[in-house]
Amino acid sequence: MSVVITVDGPSGVGKGTLAIKLAQVLGFHLLDSGAIYRVIGVAADRSGIALDDENALVHLAEHSDMQFVPNVKSGPVAVMLDGEDLTVEVRTEKAGNLASMVAVLPALRAALLQKQKDFSQAPGLVADGRDMGTVVFPEADLKFFLDASAEVRAERRVKQLQAMGRDVIFNKIYQEVMERDQRDRNRKVAPLAPADDAILIDTSTISAEQVFEMVKKTISKQLGLL
Ligand code: C5P
Repeated sequence: MSVVITVDGPSGVGKGTLAIKLAQVLGFHLLDSGAIYRVIGVAADRSGIALDDENALVHLAEHSDMQFVPNVKSGPVAVMLDGEDLTVEVRTEKAGNLASMVAVLPALRAALLQKQKDFSQAPGLVADGRDMGTVVFPEADLKFFLDASAEVRAERRVKQLQAMGRDVIFNKIYQEVMERDQRDRNRKVAPLAPADDAILIDTSTISAEQVFEMVKKTISKQLGLL
């Protein structure tokens, strides 16, 4: 039997960092579900597929070879699409926005469901996203939902981008964070929301290390791991 731990929450809340660290210390597989929506958004944009052309996007999802390789240096995972390395391209703000536009489509989400479930393999999985605890793994052993104010998340994103040498304006990033939140929270299918049995953690005033320690304690207490 394989253990599943889900980590959901809005963009910029620290899910990715937490999920990869957990997967490492537990020796578990990692599902960065956002990367799947990002690669589809990027691939659609490149090949001129309209972001609301549900049939074409489902076809793309079903017929492309997507590989996700855990990789600490470049975010949670390195991303390959039909043999091409898209790791850098999928991490841009543009890719995040493209992802959240295709992610509203019910048929696309349905087509991706089994692909995501297939990540659950022994000895266990840490799954990071928006609907991991509600839709993809409703039977997960432990569910976390991370949240933080939009200001704090935009601030963190600005720092990350500046550390990458990018020239960024806070107001623009804040606006993008708000827009993406709104789309993710208000869509009809699998909107961003905590599962009823999720443990909520507000990361606004605590560091990534503190979040990791809290989560580690809970895993140890509830699952007897770590
Ligand atoms: O987590 P990340 O920022 O990489 O996700 C990009 C976008 O993909 C999100 O804003 C959301 O619209 C979509 N997404 C989703 N369901 C998931 C993961 C991501 O709809 N499980």
